[in-house]
Amino acid sequence: MPWPAPSARPKPSSPEQMAAPSDSSVRVADATSLAEGEARTFTYQRAGRAYEGFLLRHRLGFFAYANSCPHWSVDLDLGFGDFYDAELDRIFCRNHGALFLPETGLCSAGPCAGLYLEQFAVALDGADAVVEVLPPVVIVAENLG
Ligand code: FES
Repeated sequence: MPWPAPSARPKPSSPEQMAAPSDSSVRVADATSLAEGEARTFTYQRAGRAYEGFLLRHRLGFFAYANSCPHWSVDLDLGFGDFYDAELDRIFCRNHGALFLPETGLCSAGPCAGLYLEQFAVALDGADAVVEVLPPVVIVAENLG
């Protein structure tokens, strides 16, 4: 299977590309200027720590995910800032080549097949995208004895 080749494109990091994070939502400025297939990273806060996510403009809409592969919990893009392969119509992980459906984050091929990227809700506000970052779901098991 042909895995996407690395590119030399640097990860976006200028202030106009990443909005200031809050605990529950992140504004990605001028998201509508992204071309289909382009992604932009953003920083979000969770429990006092900063994490990175990415917003992808796809032909089906805007989708946002944590930049964390469910295989090893490491960045998908290795810092290059590209997440999507148009020929395969998949989000991809540069580490071991996992492929994910753009609209759901389901891993359709690779070492984490059947697992999902953590997806965030996205709403457009004019030209900006507002990404809602919810706290992680914690399942507490009781009465296991
Ligand atoms: S870390 Fe993503 S496929 Fe292994």
